[in-house]
Amino acid sequence: MDSTLDTPTHPWLLPRSTAPDRERCYLTVQQVGKTYATRNGDVHAVERADFDIDEGDFVSLVGPSGCGKSTLMSMIGGLELPTAGRIAVDGRAVDGPRRDFGYVFQDATLLPWKSVLENVLFPIRTQKRVLADHLPEAERLLKLTGLWDFRDKRPAELSGGMRQRVAICRGLVNDPRLLMMDEPFSALDAITRDDMNLMLAQLWDQVHKTAVFITHSIREAVFLSDRVLVMNARPSRIVADIRVPFERPRRAQMQEHPLFNEICAFVREKIHEAHDSRRADAR
Ligand SMILES: Nc1ncnc2c1ncn2[C@@H]1O[C@H](COP(=O)(O)OP(=O)(O)OP(=O)(O)O)[C@@H](O)[C@H]1O
Ligand SMILES: [Mg+2]
Repeated sequence: MDSTLDTPTHPWLLPRSTAPDRERCYLTVQQVGKTYATRNGDVHAVERADFDIDEGDFVSLVGPSGCGKSTLMSMIGGLELPTAGRIAVDGRAVDGPRRDFGYVFQDATLLPWKSVLENVLFPIRTQKRVLADHLPEAERLLKLTGLWDFRDKRPAELSGGMRQRVAICRGLVNDPRLLMMDEPFSALDAITRDDMNLMLAQLWDQVHKTAVFITHSIREAVFLSDRVLVMNARPSRIVADIRVPFERPRRAQMQEHPLFNEICAFVREKIHEAHDSRRADAR
């Protein structure tokens, strides 16, 4: 964990990592940095990110816009390589895109001429695997997300929330060990987004996957996650690591609990501190 991390004052705030053998963790991010060389000079997108993720944890990354969340996620998924440090899965360095990870982005990016079911099965087709072998899983996921009756529709016939549900099913269809979601609900209206949060929480009770989830919504992060990592302004570091102390299954009423609001307020404070420090740096 970053050296700027506060001394724990709350039971749910995790201390600096003291794991004796980080190679035994499912996913380790060790002193990872990313510097982009641009025509206008170097852009330090991420600096010394350092944390581990246990298999099965739903982990959210929150932080100000431009702080490097998507860059960090791309490096975890092997879509970008770090310029410093090391990311490893099961003790082996991530050196390229991984077939055992699934991805969901802000825009559902569905193929407009294909049906819902064909879109969900698309990764299987591109990996030249036998579609029939994966049909039961596609059916299970579409039923869990309430889309089975829409399996023959085209994306244009669906609402935005339904399209994102299709994208989540597509991300899960090849049974990935980890699903990465980069702001999957940020283009949705507030009511649909609440529904999506409940849907995702319920889906996670069934699929029990490791997840890395990026959002600008603090409440969404705390509601969905086992852990919330707060990043500060660029070059970003992890400034708080929170284990959300609510049992699963998660219910909507969790959001009325004083502890839920306390944790959200803490995260908000950390993000504002990050903004303030960036403004101070700019002066
Ligand atoms: N390919 C690239 N080349 C140069 N700079 C980049 C590149 N990708 C990202 N950056 C820069 O790195 C920084 C972090 O970008 P990133 O997209 O990771 O932030 P983010 O936290 O995901 O932001 P947002 O919340 O707005 O999505 C930004 O300053 C961005 O301009
Ligand atoms: Mg981003």
